[in-house]
Amino acid sequence: MKPAAYITTPIYYVNDVPHIGHAYTTIAADVLARTYRLFGSKALFLTGTDEHGQKIETAANKAGVEPQAFVDKVSKHFSDMGKVINLSEHQFIRTTESRHKKAAQALWQKLVENDQIYKSKYEGWYSVRDETFFTESELVDGKAPTGSDVEWVEEPSYFFKLSQWQEPLLRFYEANPTFIQPNSRRNEVISFVKGGLRDLSISRSTFAWGIPVPEDPQHVMYVWVEALTNYLTAIGYPNIDGADFKQFWPEAIHLVGKDILRHHAVYWPALLMAADLPPPKRIFAHGWWTIEGEKMSKSVGNTIDPIALVDQYGSDQLRYFLMREVPFGKDGDFAQQALVQRINSDLANDLGNLSQRVLSFIQKNAEAQVPEQGDLTEADTVILDKAKALPEQVYAAAENQALNKICELIWQVVGGANRYIDAQKPWDLRKSDTARMQTVLHTLLDVIRHVAVMVSPVVPDAAAKILDQLAIPADKRDVASLSDWQLMAGTDLPKPEPVFPRI
Ligand code: MSP
Repeated sequence: MKPAAYITTPIYYVNDVPHIGHAYTTIAADVLARTYRLFGSKALFLTGTDEHGQKIETAANKAGVEPQAFVDKVSKHFSDMGKVINLSEHQFIRTTESRHKKAAQALWQKLVENDQIYKSKYEGWYSVRDETFFTESELVDGKAPTGSDVEWVEEPSYFFKLSQWQEPLLRFYEANPTFIQPNSRRNEVISFVKGGLRDLSISRSTFAWGIPVPEDPQHVMYVWVEALTNYLTAIGYPNIDGADFKQFWPEAIHLVGKDILRHHAVYWPALLMAADLPPPKRIFAHGWWTIEGEKMSKSVGNTIDPIALVDQYGSDQLRYFLMREVPFGKDGDFAQQALVQRINSDLANDLGNLSQRVLSFIQKNAEAQVPEQGDLTEADTVILDKAKALPEQVYAAAENQALNKICELIWQVVGGANRYIDAQKPWDLRKSDTARMQTVLHTLLDVIRHVAVMVSPVVPDAAAKILDQLAIPADKRDVASLSDWQLMAGTDLPKPEPVFPRI
């Protein structure tokens, strides 16, 4: 039995509709959660929306709507996107929920009790778009390092004693070498922390759209401190003795974009340690997508709507492309042509064609039933062993969040199976040796069964269709059943339909 898993995405700002970057992390988290569940793990998958802060207040004002009405509307776009990209069971958290207000204020209070907060005045640069404070020396040509505009802010503010956490953080990174992944990101964070940490302004008092600071409602909590707390809210904080908290918190894996690594890998573990809580198990920072070679931006007008893509190409197709095209952790380019290419070659020609050619051959030439398995030759054993090795390899890849590796491993078996058909030539055996033909077809069905089960987290709809066509019972589609349950000769097979049409 595998341990529990807790996979989170960032919670998305609701100043605008979802784009491909949001869909990317969310699909990655879904693939991981589904993979863990395939192995019998209890996996909690959390996503949702970040609804407070100056940026949202401004967007609501611009729209001429009350902030709450505004966030209700935009948050729904994100929960709707979840259906379109075919998310499995998950929790969708909104920071305007009362349970979150309670958790965020409880964390604040705990920090006060632990003497981690003091009141002073903030003077410095602030980027509303990034909802982040920057020092003068961090600015590049008068803008935030992200390219966002900054404004000068002077206001009374509460501070978190982040500077005290420099050494404990460095010790923590040292003792937990895989806390920040990939390693290149880990090195970046370590050198940032070694450069010295300043206390962090954690409240704002010049606007109102946020969670009030306990006992000083003139201030609202800094949106990042509040937002990070969502990972605790979802598992019942402040009740740290509850079953969910105990089971899931030690397993927490936060998937984030590289732009928000500092908030997750520096501020968050420091806040947690300051509140007597252990940091999560891992922060994994993925890269950014450019669009046809260009930075995605609203002003350029090249933002990609994931819902339109699913309408055009299908959800499995988009999921596969995003997971396969770029190693998780690296930047990548989104090009329609590359998407079509992946659909036609990997999905239609390789996987789709494998199941279609085997199943339609069986329909026509083997009485539309699971064929008998006779003595195995070396070629049979080689391809079967490759298929049977997949679960262990996929699990290891999932443990490293190596999502494109999962696809590669599976497609190696798909390629091997296609070559096996060409070498075994069942169409010739039909005339010369039907017993051998049956064994070859049986072997192929078993390989396809392994492939379909293992690929189901990435392309759930297509995998289910393939497994239906193999007449695999619904409760025999997990990793345990791959070894505990066998195909039975004589089982009727339905008429196959292609699962991945070519574009
Ligand atoms: N609300 C904060 C996160 C709080 S988590 C406690 C936030 N929201 S966001 O909506 O602006 O961004 C969410 C995620 O989208 C980030 O992880 C960011 O990296 C990701 N992406 C934004 N543009 C992207 C691409 N072009 N490509 C890939 N991911 C991108 O930050």
